[in-house]
Amino acid sequence: MGNINHGDDSALETLVMSLRDQEPPSSALFIGAMPHEAFKAWRYLIGWQPHRAHATAWENAGFKRVDHLPEKKFSCVMVLPGKSKEATFASFANAIDRLEIGGQLIVAMTNAAGASRYEKEIAKVMGQVQSFQKNKCRAFSVRLGAEVRRDIIDDWRLGNVVREIDGFLVLPGIFSSKQIDAGSRALVSHFPAGLRGTAADIGAGWGYLSHSLLERCSQISKVDLFEVDATALECAHINLTNFSRRVSFHWHDVCEGLPANQYDVVMINPPFHAGQALDLSLGRRMIEQSIQTLKPGGTWFAVANRQLPYEKWLDHCGMPARKLSEDGTYKCFTGIKPLTR
Ligand SMILES: C[S@@+](CC[C@H](N)C(=O)[O-])C[C@H]1O[C@@H](n2cnc3c(N)ncnc32)[C@H](O)[C@@H]1O
Repeated sequence: MGNINHGDDSALETLVMSLRDQEPPSSALFIGAMPHEAFKAWRYLIGWQPHRAHATAWENAGFKRVDHLPEKKFSCVMVLPGKSKEATFASFANAIDRLEIGGQLIVAMTNAAGASRYEKEIAKVMGQVQSFQKNKCRAFSVRLGAEVRRDIIDDWRLGNVVREIDGFLVLPGIFSSKQIDAGSRALVSHFPAGLRGTAADIGAGWGYLSHSLLERCSQISKVDLFEVDATALECAHINLTNFSRRVSFHWHDVCEGLPANQYDVVMINPPFHAGQALDLSLGRRMIEQSIQTLKPGGTWFAVANRQLPYEKWLDHCGMPARKLSEDGTYKCFTGIKPLTR
């Protein structure tokens, strides 16, 4: 599994346009499912989507969703791939594994994400593809024949396998899947051993901040991990096995809100991308939520890239933060939420 890139609907639109003259298939699976009117006419379509907000949109549009990719064959598998190369190839392998002979694979992606390169890779493995180009995207499709390069598909499948970094288990495509984020490392060095009470990890990823807090601070009774990416949260489950009685996992879009005045300690390393694009508004919204879910008198910790202008936003959110450290790349903050807010 991998992280799906939803930065932009243009790949979805291109995919739908490429299907214009086709009858709906008898059965279809959509990996990285995004809702579209055009699919309403499809009798049998199920979607897999690890991003909470997009999974909700898919369900709200009336489509069926599965938490795990089904182990069965389909006459059509569509893919809106992940943002890392490995996660993208893994999603191709997952799609091909679920195609019946003669079934159709359809992939859509932006040119900027390397569509033509991936199209060539699919052609190498499955044979001649049909390509459709629009909106600076490509949708390419091919039917599964008897002759495919199984050796290459086996390599692609490795992107579904957890690997170890510094004693933690991660999957390709999630945040910091090659190494522990240096900003997060800097932040945890500031956690005082005497922190106590309940804690929240906002945008928890594969669980590094939670693990460090629980390891350092024996008086932390419980940590709630909030994360939008189901794949990252699955890794967090594994990484926090030793603390299973002190952790709860929430597959949740933090922008939808968090309970007010709930936690004694809150920590956040906010994202500053939505898909491939720089997006400070997402980080701002998550910071705001992280502050409002903190109890008055509770302690807040955050790390951000040095150049990101969050200070004014912290004022706006009523958090009197002070800088704990700053290096060439990251700045770490802490603050106590005022009692009178
Ligand atoms: C910079 S990473 C930090 C991950 C982890 N806390 C760490 O320090 O390694 C930001 C995390 O926020 C998650 N995220 C992004 N948007 C989110 C949202 N709307 N709700 C919850 N989590 C979100 C991302 O998937 C990512 O795992």
